[in-house]
Amino acid sequence: MSRAQNRVAILHGVNFDVLERRDPDLYGGLALGELEYRITGWARDLGLEPTFFQTNSEAEFCGYLHRLSAGSDAAVINAGAWTHYSRAIGDALAVDPVPAVEVHLSDVENREEWRRISVFEGLVEAKISGKGPDGYREALGLLAELLGTQSG
Ligand code: DQA
Repeated sequence: MSRAQNRVAILHGVNFDVLERRDPDLYGGLALGELEYRITGWARDLGLEPTFFQTNSEAEFCGYLHRLSAGSDAAVINAGAWTHYSRAIGDALAVDPVPAVEVHLSDVENREEWRRISVFEGLVEAKISGKGPDGYREALGLLAELLGTQSG
């Protein structure tokens, strides 16, 4: 019998290790561990099995993307500021892609102009921003539907 397609990688990029120290008006004051705890609950309710990765190293982030399909069937990506300028990371996602949703805690469409650009455009199923942690739940819902996992 083939394995369930339910593994979802939750990828956080630069500065998410200090999420609780960033502007609470924009990012909610949550620590990454708390965010990951919530994501785990939402994922499991949808029949998804999450794995988490965060790095401040662009090279490590690219390296993870190069091997994405080996460990995951789908991905939720919040690459932080890299989203807006790292063509290298966009190219890396194209190397070994899985269905992915781009998420941002803050409303990147209504902040500085440069935050409207995303290197993931055309590479992801959807882009969700400005919904805080709930954006991750929405992203997981889209991916669960795509993968056909049980929702509960
Ligand atoms: C962010 C938005 C980015 O513009 C910013 O650089 C971040 C966080 C968000 O989740 O709102 O680091 O990705």
